Amino acid sequence: MLQLPIYLDNNATTPCDPRVVEAMLPYFTTHFGNAASRTHPFGWTAAAAVDHAREQVAALIGAETQEIIFTSGATEADNLALKGMFEAYAGKGNHIITVATEHKAVLDTCLHLEKQGASVTRLEVDHAGMISPETLEAAITPQTIGIAVMYANNETGAIQPISAISRIARKHDVLLMTDATQAVGKIPVDVQQDGIDLMAFSAHKLYGPKGVGALYVRRKQPRVRLIAQLDGGGHERGLRSGTLNVPGIAGFGKACELAGAEMTAEGPRLAALRDKLEKALLELEAVSVNGPLTHRLPHVSNISFQHTENEALLAGFNRTIAVATGSACTSASMEPSHVLKAMGLSDDLARSSLRFSLGRFTTAEEIDQAIRIVQETVNNVRKMSPLWEMYQETTTLRPS
Ligand SMILES: Cc1ncc(COP(=O)(O)O)c(C=O)c1O
Repeated sequence: MLQLPIYLDNNATTPCDPRVVEAMLPYFTTHFGNAASRTHPFGWTAAAAVDHAREQVAALIGAETQEIIFTSGATEADNLALKGMFEAYAGKGNHIITVATEHKAVLDTCLHLEKQGASVTRLEVDHAGMISPETLEAAITPQTIGIAVMYANNETGAIQPISAISRIARKHDVLLMTDATQAVGKIPVDVQQDGIDLMAFSAHKLYGPKGVGALYVRRKQPRVRLIAQLDGGGHERGLRSGTLNVPGIAGFGKACELAGAEMTAEGPRLAALRDKLEKALLELEAVSVNGPLTHRLPHVSNISFQHTENEALLAGFNRTIAVATGSACTSASMEPSHVLKAMGLSDDLARSSLRFSLGRFTTAEEIDQAIRIVQETVNNVRKMSPLWEMYQETTTLRPS
């Protein structure tokens, strides 16, 4: 029997893989030591677990172990990268280039830095959510210290041309920072091949635990300098003080190992399910997919159902499927997604959009059921909508 609700919100968070939980368990109880305790076996065992996890995490992204700084998640890693870079390179300049469709962890950090004297350029995107490398290059000035472009977008799955951006960054001697939270573990990401200098990612998006993530910091060609944002015991090469979350880090390591081993099979399986879902929903009238159809994560689909409101759709689903709207509640109003708006969607169209994100545990049966639920709900919501009635009148009156 199919269990409801059907979880299609894996970009918000993924369930912990049971194999990850198993790898974590000993570090809560038997091996509870502090990885910084150098004087006894409790500490040594914990430190060995962290070393092993660091190898697993580094291997997934083609990094050296010393280049991995464990953090509490991607938000902290984004903050450390951007604030740490801004402070460390103050002698060089104060200009940072980013993109209008970034996650708030990057956009709000940039807003904070503007108050500290940074000058920030926010690049616009095209209707598919892609930036233009030429526009990016034109935005570079002698004051530019870094470029922050996300690897893959959390709302649409759009994958930016990171290697092309990196070539531009290298040419102008500017650092490339990327928030790869949605990409790592889902598609191949290699910091060497992609030419990335700083990269934030998070365990809970790749079937690991919540509250642990990492910042990749390049050590050679160029050696990236950062100023720590948390002071204390000098953990993580002085860049992130605080007792390490040993069970979380052990789980993160295992999650990275599994992702590396399973990604090549998982990606196409999810792409096939996503495509099936998308194709079936596109059979409804006045439905469109947001984002690029080619440069896109395999498990994500963002769809606008014209002349509906996503809040009404959610109510209509009546807790049978879990999807996201991309809207954020600010005070009493629902703000339409800043990502969809940056792509040129009207407020109404953005408010009619839903994000479906599949994951390792999504089954074909769940997708079939989700298709039925969404089709039925969209039809029901539209039946009650005067806007839909008007739309139908205009389309039937239109000469063919
Ligand atoms: C692109 C992106 N960056 C950053 C984050 C924040 O990650 P964390 O929850 O690990 O702080 C998320 C999660 O929503 C995300 O999708």
